[in-house]
Amino acid sequence: MMDVDKLHQHAAKAGQSHVLQFWEELSEVQRSHLLEEIKNLDFLELNGFFRKAMDAFSASSSQEKVDARMEAVPQEVFGSATRDQQHLQQWEAQGFHQIADGKVAVLLLAGGQGTRLGVSYPKGMYDVGLPSHKSLFQIQAERILKLQKLAKERHGKDCVIPWYIMTSGRTMESTHDFFRKHQYFGLKEENLILFQQGMLPAMSFEGKVLMEEKGKLSMAPDGNGGLYRALGAHGVLKDMENRGIEYIHVYCVDNILVKVADPVFVGFCVTKEADCGAKVVEKMNPTEPVGVVCRVDGVYQVVEYSEITLATAQKRSTDGRLMYNAGNIANHFFTRRFLQQVVEVHEPQLQHHVAVKKIPHVDTQGVLIHPDKPNGIKMEKFVFDIFQFAKKFVVFEVLREEEFSPLKNADSQNGKDNPSTARHALLSLHHCWVLNAGGHFVDENGTRIPAIPLQSRKENGSAQDKTETTMQEAGDVPIQCEISPLVSYSGEGLEPYVKNKEFHAPLTIDETGIHQLVRNGL
Ligand code: UD1
Repeated sequence: MMDVDKLHQHAAKAGQSHVLQFWEELSEVQRSHLLEEIKNLDFLELNGFFRKAMDAFSASSSQEKVDARMEAVPQEVFGSATRDQQHLQQWEAQGFHQIADGKVAVLLLAGGQGTRLGVSYPKGMYDVGLPSHKSLFQIQAERILKLQKLAKERHGKDCVIPWYIMTSGRTMESTHDFFRKHQYFGLKEENLILFQQGMLPAMSFEGKVLMEEKGKLSMAPDGNGGLYRALGAHGVLKDMENRGIEYIHVYCVDNILVKVADPVFVGFCVTKEADCGAKVVEKMNPTEPVGVVCRVDGVYQVVEYSEITLATAQKRSTDGRLMYNAGNIANHFFTRRFLQQVVEVHEPQLQHHVAVKKIPHVDTQGVLIHPDKPNGIKMEKFVFDIFQFAKKFVVFEVLREEEFSPLKNADSQNGKDNPSTARHALLSLHHCWVLNAGGHFVDENGTRIPAIPLQSRKENGSAQDKTETTMQEAGDVPIQCEISPLVSYSGEGLEPYVKNKEFHAPLTIDETGIHQLVRNGL
């Protein structure tokens, strides 16, 4: 055990000796906990992070400068799920080919704390209240299982899509326990690889580490861009290499519609020989909390919703659309080689972003303070900060109602991005799948319920402010229709179940069959 004097020196050298100020008052348990935290910290490195992050932050506070350097993504970089209909099958076939060859992995970023949602457990465990009560983790696991099966049907060989899950000190144990308790939702344990990202302490504006308690630093995960350090530190890239993985789909935990390892997206990126790609939806509303993919000083980047000025977010092109409308849905494609280079060469150059916060802390008198104005910062790296290093970067635009409904807030807070909107988005999509496969819904009198099929929404394109009028945001209660991912990954294969049949809601289709009275064959 490092002795306390050494610990003092370690902290004092970096001007952080206050972290041991209350040492004498601490119990043995508290001492060993604090010791562990401090041992894992390189204070001099931390001071360096702080200085660099604050310098960049001050420079960017004159926001006009960033805004003046932004340009929209050029059209030739885009592929589109709606405008490129003629290529979709070919891209999908390419994606399935790579999956069947065992070259595709998925990587889930699940180290966040879910502060806005207000739950104490990992967000992936959340049940948004679907008829099946499946958690986000289960939905994602079943999509992986289904894709493996679809790839096998196409190519006649067994394949595995390994699932890498990045957790943090706050989410590791409960995530692991949850998967174990549910027998990994049918996946093989060896193909689910959990690893942990780093944590950093919150700092005062003067660069002092803030204490949550007398014997505890105020620690938080170092942002989803902590991925790159963690990939190197835990041998994850080596594991990918050993398994023959070449392409990685990285995504965030909270999007209930996420198409994990989407063969179309993977196939598009592979066909374009890209080393890095991003999926986007059209941003419709200037204040929507999504980052925008764009170029800054000629290099690709996401300008986060917290970092763009309202004036820039509101700018429109001559066609009436937002000028910066490539809304980041946190679905990224990387080649393993690109990630290797990032980890080996570029990671140390990545800057931390600064989030100015009100951070509860113990002051020098040992009193717990709940500040009423910002008193410090959290430092985070972002997953998309490596776009700038790509040799070939592509963007794939998809439909919001098919692919993006994030769970960010609790139901009580506001009407957006909460459990109800996530549930509604999934039910609405599955309703559309049934209609597109030739099924119908009837009301209690047997009258067909008029519906707006997905196709017509597609044809309407992206009229301005469409988001405000989609079912999920209008607060309409959608038809209760849930289709297990084990039955259909993205609407395929449903005809045998629903074609020319009429259903009363609620309708559930899972691997055991249709759970609904079928009134008449037509
Ligand atoms: C994120 C994107 C934003 C995008 C939006 C779409 C980033 C930095 N921002 O914003 O551009 O428009 O999603 O929904 O990606 N996470 C970690 N470790 C951390 C912090 C977060 O793994 O230290 C994970 C979370 O578990 C989550 C994901 O990263 O899966 C996104 O985190 P969150 O804080 O919700 O990002 P947003 O601010 O919503």
